[in-house]
Amino acid sequence: MSDLVYLNGEYLPLAEARVPVLDRGFIFGDGVYEVIPVYDRQPFRLQHHLDRLQHSLDGIRLDNPHSLEEWQSLIARIVEAAEWSDQGVYLQVTRGPAPRDHAFPKVVQPTVFIMAMALTTPRPEVVANGVAAITAADNRWQHCDIKTTSLLANVLLRQSSVDAGCAETILIRDGLLTEGSSSSIFVVKDGVIAAPPHSNLVLPGITYDVVVELAGQEGVPLTMRAIPEAELRNADEIWLTSSTKEITAVTRLDGQPVGDGRPGPLFRRLHAAYQTYKHQVMRGRNG
Ligand SMILES: Cc1ncc(COP(=O)(O)O)c(C=O)c1O
Repeated sequence: MSDLVYLNGEYLPLAEARVPVLDRGFIFGDGVYEVIPVYDRQPFRLQHHLDRLQHSLDGIRLDNPHSLEEWQSLIARIVEAAEWSDQGVYLQVTRGPAPRDHAFPKVVQPTVFIMAMALTTPRPEVVANGVAAITAADNRWQHCDIKTTSLLANVLLRQSSVDAGCAETILIRDGLLTEGSSSSIFVVKDGVIAAPPHSNLVLPGITYDVVVELAGQEGVPLTMRAIPEAELRNADEIWLTSSTKEITAVTRLDGQPVGDGRPGPLFRRLHAAYQTYKHQVMRGRNG
């Protein structure tokens, strides 16, 4: 067992990892992050996650402190040292410590932090029964495609669902579905899957891409288009997806049953395809 983390060039126990209180991540939430699922100690779609990290860094105008090869070897060491063969790697880059001033410091020393976490995937009863969600107005900023550590809006939105005894808050902006507080959202109507397209108003989910690919392989029609709130409320099925939630059925929305209140047939099909994919491809066992 190890609780080794990486911080600015050093590998050390989590309890010994320290950042200065003037770190702009602490003062302003001035940083970006990634969560990468790891199966059998193999990071899943690492290149996609590192591409999204680059997009986030570009979005906050912060140079990438590491090359692809450097990221791969830093992550590999953390994965190797962790106690779990399935895990989630969390990595964060901030604009580093500097005297407090909103404007960027002239000389930036970014803070780089990497740790491994236990990967908790949905329990069998969640797969069997689905989860409840509420809706809320999407009151986040206009750059939700940046995976920033400034997560206060997401935190408050997520807490509303906890307060309501629900698993997620599904967000509506200008009458259209955007995403969950920490997940992508799909709807199904009359056998057709739909999801909001990538834009500045949603995070480009890596699991979203997997579901789009699997729907293609399964021959199930899927459209990426704007989804009015009424379509969300009248959907036969609603799913949420993320690296840790995989595909989860939403079976109650704002206290009302979704469809017949049970996970639907297309959920069961795509969930099975996802599990097969996970065991055959994510774990590197091709059949
Ligand atoms: C706001 C938001 N949207 C979507 C997702 C899903 O992204 P991924 O599938 O890459 O985990 C997340 C994941 O945490 C998220 O925080």
